Amino acid sequence: MKGVPGAVIDSGGVWVYGGARGQQAGSEVAVDRSPYKEPFEEFERWYAEAREKETRDANAMALATATRHGTPSVRMVLLKGADLRGFVFYSNLESRKSGELAETSRAALCLHWKSLGRQVRIEGTTERVADADADAYFASRPRDSQIGAWASDQSRPLESREELERRVAEVSARYGNGAVPRPPNWTGFRVVPTAIEFWHERPFRLHDRIVYRRAGEGWRKERLYP
Ligand SMILES: Cc1cc2nc3c(=O)[nH]c(=O)nc-3n(C[C@H](O)[C@H](O)[C@H](O)COP(=O)(O)O)c2cc1C
Repeated sequence: MKGVPGAVIDSGGVWVYGGARGQQAGSEVAVDRSPYKEPFEEFERWYAEAREKETRDANAMALATATRHGTPSVRMVLLKGADLRGFVFYSNLESRKSGELAETSRAALCLHWKSLGRQVRIEGTTERVADADADAYFASRPRDSQIGAWASDQSRPLESREELERRVAEVSARYGNGAVPRPPNWTGFRVVPTAIEFWHERPFRLHDRIVYRRAGEGWRKERLYP
């Protein structure tokens, strides 16, 4: 993420695009009257408000993927990076989601901030993050999470809880007090957006919906019926 103009890191360890902050946090300016011509600054403003007001996991988001035949699946992941290139989460490469991303390179994300009455929907193509970025993020994780990443064959059948605990103990013993390297099958994915929708709850279900769609080098912005 480093090297992207304007990218800054926030207190939650998430890279966000540090462009001009056009609005006060908490303001109720209708989204389509906002001055933005592209979605990243809008996202930055909404995300900053969510980090302030949402009590837990403002970075939790539903990630939808599908098989090449179109069978969908969805699960929660945590947003760990956002900048002009896209939205990053981390996972196990042998998991179901990663298998589906290998087949289609397409995903959709949905962040919902209940206390703000807002959701953001993101659709796009996917790519793997650079190894150096994955190494840096893995190194920043709590040691127990690092050990857990080695111990889990994510999405594979597991005989018993005891088996998982045995594997955790084995990995802990293997690394002792030394550094835990990133497992080769654990990395980040970036969703490179083709569309981002900002949804804001309004009375009588007359919600605001503003969608930005990529159009050439820029973005086309339009309002949708609720
Ligand atoms: C709030 C929340 C955050 C989560 N964050 C992640 C994450 O960042 N990465 C991840 O691999 N799994 C995360 N999980 C677990 C996933 O939802 C899911 O169980 C797991 O990744 C296996 O999904 P799959 O079998 O579809 O690949 C999270 C679950 C919850 C409830």
